[in-house]
Amino acid sequence: MHEKIEKILQEANKFKPENIADLEKFRIRFLGKKGIISQLFDEFRNLPHNEKKEKGKILNELKITVREKIDKFSRALSVNRENEPSIDLTLPAEQFPEGSRHPISVVRKEIIEIFSRIGFTVSEGPEIEDDWHVFSALNFPAEHPARDMQDTFFISKNPDIMLRTHTSSVQVRVMQTTSPPIRTISPGRVFRNEAISARSHCIFHQIEGLYVDENVSFADLKQTLEFFAKELFGEETKIRLRPSFFPFTEPSGEMDVSCSCKGKGCKLCKNTGWLEVLGCGMVDPNVLRDCNIDDKKYTGFAFGLGIERIALLKYDIKDIRLYFENDVRFLNQFSAII
Ligand code: PHE
Repeated sequence: MHEKIEKILQEANKFKPENIADLEKFRIRFLGKKGIISQLFDEFRNLPHNEKKEKGKILNELKITVREKIDKFSRALSVNRENEPSIDLTLPAEQFPEGSRHPISVVRKEIIEIFSRIGFTVSEGPEIEDDWHVFSALNFPAEHPARDMQDTFFISKNPDIMLRTHTSSVQVRVMQTTSPPIRTISPGRVFRNEAISARSHCIFHQIEGLYVDENVSFADLKQTLEFFAKELFGEETKIRLRPSFFPFTEPSGEMDVSCSCKGKGCKLCKNTGWLEVLGCGMVDPNVLRDCNIDDKKYTGFAFGLGIERIALLKYDIKDIRLYFENDVRFLNQFSAII
């Protein structure tokens, strides 16, 4: 046993930890509950009486050496630690930037929610369309300027395949596959070959609505739009309808909402007190017929709005290009809106 302890003592004397973890390993190895020293003490207990005095002395020496070693190095290592850059707990925590909805998504969601409260479902369709769904079924005459290269992006040289210029094309698809009553809104991206400026872009988002049933009247259209305007812009909002023209509606109108300046006149409404918001009208019977809906039995109304424009009015955004630039300084301003 003597030799064994001497050997261990030598090992303990030689030990030099690199770091706190080394030292802790050493402590467990020697002083742990099942460590070397406690095992030696177990052996010591069984020794004959006459050997105990001598062995006890050397065993205690080992224990003291190990303790001192641990104390010495633990002091040295923690002193070194104080020289390390310390952690300042008063510093503000690191920020983990969370994503938020894009203003277009915020407004689209809000509009969808408003119409779903009065029974409209959401329908979607392809962005690459054919002439039939974008123009022909919607009563556009062959020579209509909207079909022109200046307005429409054609895919390849084939004049039949194009990027949709409005989501009315989705409504044609719905009418072809569903029998009335139909109550649907179609949100989606649309494309027009227009110069990009503060007010217009070649890509934007629309939501178009369609209601086809027996006895749907212009009064239903007006009521629906008034409900929508009040829900979106506030209870005190007023609407007005002006006559307009679209090939697929007859009569056609454009809806304005009262400006929040309450008629006092401001830059946003160009001192008119009114903001132009959407196009609408009663679905032309030709369109119903083209989509195999009995135009003697059914009537319908439709409307279409640009989401960019609504968001522009709602949040007083000055330039439509901001929506597409993904500048976080712009987008962050909407992060509080869910
Ligand atoms: N489709 C039209 C547009 O893109 C909007 C509209 C839809 C107008 C429905 C009337 C009825 O401008």
